[in-house]
Amino acid sequence: MYPLRRNRRLRTSESIRSLVRETLIAPDDFLVPLFVVEGKGVKEEISSMPGYFRYSLDLLTSEVNELWSLGLKGVLLFVKVPDELKDNSGKEALNPEGLMQRAIRTVKETAPEMVVMTDVALDPYSSFGHDGIVSEGKILNDDTNAVLAEMALSHAKAGADFVAPSDMMDGRIFEIRTLLEDEGFHDTGIMSYSAKYASAFYGPFRDALDSAPGFGDKKTYQMDPANRDEAIRETLMDINEGADIVMVKPGLCYLDIVRDIRNSVDVPVAVYQVSGEYAMLKAAAEKGWLDHDAVMMEQITAIKRAGAHIIASYFAKDVVKMLS
Ligand code: PBG
Repeated sequence: MYPLRRNRRLRTSESIRSLVRETLIAPDDFLVPLFVVEGKGVKEEISSMPGYFRYSLDLLTSEVNELWSLGLKGVLLFVKVPDELKDNSGKEALNPEGLMQRAIRTVKETAPEMVVMTDVALDPYSSFGHDGIVSEGKILNDDTNAVLAEMALSHAKAGADFVAPSDMMDGRIFEIRTLLEDEGFHDTGIMSYSAKYASAFYGPFRDALDSAPGFGDKKTYQMDPANRDEAIRETLMDINEGADIVMVKPGLCYLDIVRDIRNSVDVPVAVYQVSGEYAMLKAAAEKGWLDHDAVMMEQITAIKRAGAHIIASYFAKDVVKMLS
């Protein structure tokens, strides 16, 4: 005991601190979310996400090139669908020439080694802004699954490496895995949003895609923030149904869940640091109330320390630039 052991000895200089540091951040920790829109020459800033943009396909190319040159190896694609293509069946989601399908091909042509993951859920395509098919104010589970499986197959055909179902219907991983196997897409992976909470932190994302629910909320499918055991149940079920990677979402408020899951599963664990988390720090930094870069690094480190193998983050590019 003291003075034989003085813990401060390991903190005396940056050199010794770095030798004993337990958590290191590197470019290959990250997945970069990308928002894609129709048009040409479009790079528009998302009002509630300062410094983050929607790109048309022609400008997506240079963004992807930059990410690749920074050492970032994975992207997570989201599309903003024009209103006139939205309905209650998700039909546009299956269009082989749809925006998502073209975006997948664009990224693959630009950076063939980039891991392309795609969001699978109906909300950007839904006239109701819900993740599933709506009937009499309810979200239909099994009918939705059938469309999600077709949607995943369509992304696989366009060249997606992983599909990422973010809808929280029961049994969708099984339906998607089965269809992909039947159609010969044995190597297309599934990153399941397995513990996705009904969070108020998704607000800016819904601005980005104009995908806010038109009625009600998402509490009949996304999880109650008060629940912890349920996250394990959801995650184990998705693994049994064929998920290759599981995810916890949002990040910071849910790091207890991240550690629980990391200790309970033997597949890689992803964490999504969501739009509201990004917006909060940007706003506080703009006011001069927080040191942007220091808080950003602390948050990313905390997410990894909690157990994340992969972090989906709007800060990915900023972090990697800081590291170099
Ligand atoms: C769509 C989806 C959402 C996010 C990722 N995929 C929004 C939602 O479920 O309402 C949120 C991401 C973020 O806030 O950054 N199902």
